[in-house]
Amino acid sequence: TRRSVLIGTGSALPARIVTNDEMARMVDTSNEWIVERTGITQRHIAGEGETTSTLAIAAARAAIESAGIEPASIDLIVLATCTPDQTFPATATLVQTALGCNGGIAFDVGAVCSGFLYGLGVADSMLRSGMARRALVIGAETMSRLLDWDDRTTCVLFGDGAGAVVLEARESDDPAAPGVLATRLHADGAHNGLLHTDGGASSTGTVGKLRMKGKEVFKHAVTNLADVLREVLEVAEIPAAELDWVVPHQANKRILDGTAKKLGLPIEKVIITVDRHANTSAASVPLALDVAMRDGRIKPGDLVMLEAMGGGFTWGASLLRI
Ligand code: ACO
Repeated sequence: TRRSVLIGTGSALPARIVTNDEMARMVDTSNEWIVERTGITQRHIAGEGETTSTLAIAAARAAIESAGIEPASIDLIVLATCTPDQTFPATATLVQTALGCNGGIAFDVGAVCSGFLYGLGVADSMLRSGMARRALVIGAETMSRLLDWDDRTTCVLFGDGAGAVVLEARESDDPAAPGVLATRLHADGAHNGLLHTDGGASSTGTVGKLRMKGKEVFKHAVTNLADVLREVLEVAEIPAAELDWVVPHQANKRILDGTAKKLGLPIEKVIITVDRHANTSAASVPLALDVAMRDGRIKPGDLVMLEAMGGGFTWGASLLRI
């Protein structure tokens, strides 16, 4: 059978770091409040000349280099973002031409913080169906440009960045071979009001600002994530205890603790970058994955669960053998 195998990862962050103390000079907040409620100590914020595409291109180049392949061999680019450079064309096409792999498939997916999981699900399906052979799946965001910098309840939570993976279609009948083992995605459009932007090209003619009812989102997040994690483990017929690592969407340290507890997973198995990166939306999962691949925690043969939940609501999880 055909499988999608992870052969490279990469990431990129804007140069500028903004600490909690700097945030406290902009809005009525404090380092103590932010650390205690979220676990965040700093975030990277895009400066002049840094956009979703420049971060995506840097992350993609790093992933391609780690895979040791020619950029021209990429025939599918799926880019997850809610902060595209332009309303159209897709930011994926900017990445494609920068890498010089024109002619294949390139498009964006919009599922906000779950975007990378959605992108991975789509790319995996296309690789397994034979529509493409080598895919670049990218999560890239400049959430700072959607924030209301006067709203202390949201502006302290987010950061900018990008992460990317290269997936390759390979044939194998060995159940222990590397590859994406199972992915499940969900959406529930009833909760638009809890997490959304108050604008868009077709409604207000602007992109709008991010609005969130944090407490309510928090409650849904822990329940939905625990459900989809159990669902993927069941589909893959793998007990939770066999997982080597969980790479979650990095929204809030308390959500990570709550989800791990619900599944009975030790927190040492959870990759955490929210302290340094804050919530980078679709970029957070591939960013955290790249950090843990490069520092040697995640190794070939490991069973790794990726999971995310975000605006929509959307949520999903994917189990991979590295
Ligand atoms: N600094 C200081 N005080 C603040 C701040 C701030 N930055 N923000 C809010 N407060 C105040 C509130 O006004 C409130 O004051 P009050 O009691 O006088 O009304 C108090 O702190 C408590 O606020 P809560 O909202 O109840 O605080 P909570 O413990 O719920 O933490 C938080 C808020 C961090 C937003 C939390 O609810 C959360 O993380 N929710 C999940 C959000 C999330 O993860 N979203 C992303 C998932 S989807 C995605 O990634 C897009």
